[in-house]
Amino acid sequence: MKLLDILKFSEEYLKKYSFSKPRLESEKVISYVLKLDRITLYAYFDMDLTLEQKDKIKEYLKAMARKRVLFDELSKNEVEEKKSQKTFEKENQELLLKCIEYLKNNSVIDSKLDAEYIFAHVLKVRRNILSMNLKREITLKEKDEIKKLLHERAKDKKPLQYILGEWEFYGYPFKVDSRVLIPRADTEILVEQCKFILQEIENPKVLDIGTGSGAISITVAKEIPTSSVLGADISLDALEVAKINRSLNKVEENLKFIKSDIFSNIKDKDFDMIISNPPYIPQSEYEELMPEVKLHEPLGALTDKGNGYFFYEKISKEASDYLKVDGYLAFEVGYNQAETVSKLMEKSKFDIIAIVKDYGGIERVVIGRKSGESSVN
Ligand SMILES: C[S@@+](CC[C@H](N)C(=O)[O-])C[C@H]1O[C@@H](n2cnc3c(N)ncnc32)[C@H](O)[C@@H]1O
Repeated sequence: MKLLDILKFSEEYLKKYSFSKPRLESEKVISYVLKLDRITLYAYFDMDLTLEQKDKIKEYLKAMARKRVLFDELSKNEVEEKKSQKTFEKENQELLLKCIEYLKNNSVIDSKLDAEYIFAHVLKVRRNILSMNLKREITLKEKDEIKKLLHERAKDKKPLQYILGEWEFYGYPFKVDSRVLIPRADTEILVEQCKFILQEIENPKVLDIGTGSGAISITVAKEIPTSSVLGADISLDALEVAKINRSLNKVEENLKFIKSDIFSNIKDKDFDMIISNPPYIPQSEYEELMPEVKLHEPLGALTDKGNGYFFYEKISKEASDYLKVDGYLAFEVGYNQAETVSKLMEKSKFDIIAIVKDYGGIERVVIGRKSGESSVN
């Protein structure tokens, strides 16, 4: 499109909206966008406009029509808006830096990340586009909210995930609060390994013991839609959260939850796989946990109040009774537990088929298959 064409188009457009001097207004818009002197505009009548220039002109014309203002007023407002945006941006960046500093001085390890997450949460934007959203004024109410959340993070040592109320696991959203353990990235490895096996089984039936937020159950049910999954937990509080997450992830069809003390309420005996990330921190190590974990995450999700092997032993001993022939038992284990857990499983007649390391090189997942022989228990 040539300059003369867009001039005609603009004049017609403004005329339609009853602007009194449409030609003059059009000249103003076009010369502004093209950075030309209005008087010399006609010397360029044959000039080809770029797509970007054309779009910009149309954008101004639309804004004039919508706001019922002449171009001089529109451009004056725009300049003022830009000026105030710059002021807000500077102020907000300074505020963010102060908040990072505050968290750092209170020994929060990922102070920058946490401060950004808190800002993004309060301003209702995604963290990765936070900087683009710091141009507007942060209201007093929002500042108060940021202050409150920072205090919870810095002084109360509340985990960021509980502050945000939601966290991602395997790319799916999970509501989290102090009723459930925060799903960890290491557990994604357990799910991934189970998925490899389950996708080879027709309509697999899966039991997840100690389902907590439902992270494992929901992800398996989502990733293997032909599966039917039962998530069990002793904590009714945790099951409430798991049910919220089941609806959030729209996976009601093939996933049920049940209150059960390990196997106490499990009736079915034909599972293809039993998965568990049980409480495995020994009492002695529980005492040493960082305050974020020890003060806020449920004790019953963290430790067996013993040597850390109670659940592995009990589940290994009884799992065979609930599994089909050749069924699988898959555990997440603590940083130094893979060997002992493997032995416990072997003792209960499981053949160890995989020990998988996490991203830090620690043996994190142990998977066994029920051997043909009957259990020794
Ligand atoms: C380490 S958390 C795992 C939560 C979730 N599966 C995950 O991976 O994020 C252990 C879970 O086991 C549950 N639990 C503790 N004792 C249990 C028991 N005796 N029977 C069933 N579940 C139990 C806890 O309530 C907690 O939700």
